[in-house]
Amino acid sequence: MKKVRKAIIPAAGLGTRFLPATKAIAKEMLPIVDKPTIQFIVEEALAAGIEDILIVTGKGKRPIEDHFDSNFELEQNLSSKGKTELLNIVEETTGINLHFIRQKRPLGLGHAVLQAKAFVGDEPFVVMLGDDIMVDQTPLTKQLINCYDDTNAATLAVMQIPESETSKYGIIDPEAAVNDSLYSVRRFVEKPNSEEAPSNLAIIGRYLLTPEIFTILEGQKPGAGGEIQLTDAIDTLNQTQRVFAHTFQGTRYDVGDKLGMLEANIEYGLKHPDTKDSLKTYLKELLIKIN
Ligand code: G1P
Repeated sequence: MKKVRKAIIPAAGLGTRFLPATKAIAKEMLPIVDKPTIQFIVEEALAAGIEDILIVTGKGKRPIEDHFDSNFELEQNLSSKGKTELLNIVEETTGINLHFIRQKRPLGLGHAVLQAKAFVGDEPFVVMLGDDIMVDQTPLTKQLINCYDDTNAATLAVMQIPESETSKYGIIDPEAAVNDSLYSVRRFVEKPNSEEAPSNLAIIGRYLLTPEIFTILEGQKPGAGGEIQLTDAIDTLNQTQRVFAHTFQGTRYDVGDKLGMLEANIEYGLKHPDTKDSLKTYLKELLIKIN
């Protein structure tokens, strides 16, 4: 069985939900306290044992490349001033095996993933969406790799969502429970309205896929929203090889959404050594004020 070594992070989206902030800044560079959201995703990949990461970018995404590159002047400056802690923080973002490719046209998530065909070759791989920050004892990507080690099959992460929100997600039609957290799946449907949704189990931004997905993506017709959908290709893959759904029990922050972004900032701020005490005091005082 081939080891899962590679990850793809699609990051070509325009980030219109955060305009005007994202007019000149890549949405993946928006920070949670002091760390760009994309760094959380890269750290999850590394914590799961991923060795090579391909980031699929588009126009205006150069700051992502610069963020993970070394910055000689900055490092020299911090070093000469003896700011070792900051120097370590800056150096943590370099030396990772990162690769970049451009998605030249915004044709959808399926099309973005297809750009990684040559990078992936004939291996199982993971897709990690930058809008979902996942927190759990075991990183979600590692949980998917553990599933793959058991089943040798593609597996997506899913989570229960309110029925009113099915049209924002890919939704699964669960067939049978394999164990406490794994389902076999009858159907994968992209963004159904609540009347048509086969369940309230939504695909969240982590996928472990087999390379056969690329042949399907090459012939994939546009689906929901006129875009080439990864979910549609996965539904086809499931007809020739099993694709399982793993339920995630941890915490998900939807940082592609304004409220989710605020929640992530507050909760991370409550853990961050520089802000946790003063933020707690501030929030307590604020609660009194707004009640
Ligand atoms: C994408 C996928 C969708 C999935 C969602 C998770 O949609 O197409 O199936 O449920 O991510 O965040 P997007 O949010 O890019 O519209």
